[in-house]
Amino acid sequence: MSDETCKDKNGISRRDLLTKSALGTFFAAIAGTVLGFPVLPKPIVSPGPSRKYKLGTPEEFPAGTALKMDKENFFLFRDEEGFFAITAICTHLGCIVSQSQDGFACPCHGSRFSADGRVVGGPAPRALPWLKVSLTPDGKLMVDAEQEVAVGTKFMV
Ligand code: FES
Repeated sequence: MSDETCKDKNGISRRDLLTKSALGTFFAAIAGTVLGFPVLPKPIVSPGPSRKYKLGTPEEFPAGTALKMDKENFFLFRDEEGFFAITAICTHLGCIVSQSQDGFACPCHGSRFSADGRVVGGPAPRALPWLKVSLTPDGKLMVDAEQEVAVGTKFMV
């Protein structure tokens, strides 16, 4: 059977139909690639909200302060040496730890942490990070939950 005998009632042969389909697919792929290039350098994921938390003035937190900032998921402490903040987010799978008699305890899988955040039991792979505490220009304490500091780093006012 020749190609000429495979034409439909509109006069289009099978070969013409396949050729046009292949060309259409080819040009669609080229157009998609070209149109996609300008989008590549821009991140599709938008940045989340800032995780810097402005608290009150230092005078509002006397020595002996041990507060859990529930919404912000960290603990703020003040002792005789200064302020320090420890995250409340468990380093195992991200549950929120609570204070226990000797430090912190995670309710999800039983990790336990010492008062300075070191792992003392359970599956947590690393200590609870300490967070940077600083003072804003208008004299308020600020905790940066995105910036870890070395264990034992305290902020003196
Ligand atoms: S999430 Fe804390 S122990 Fe698993």
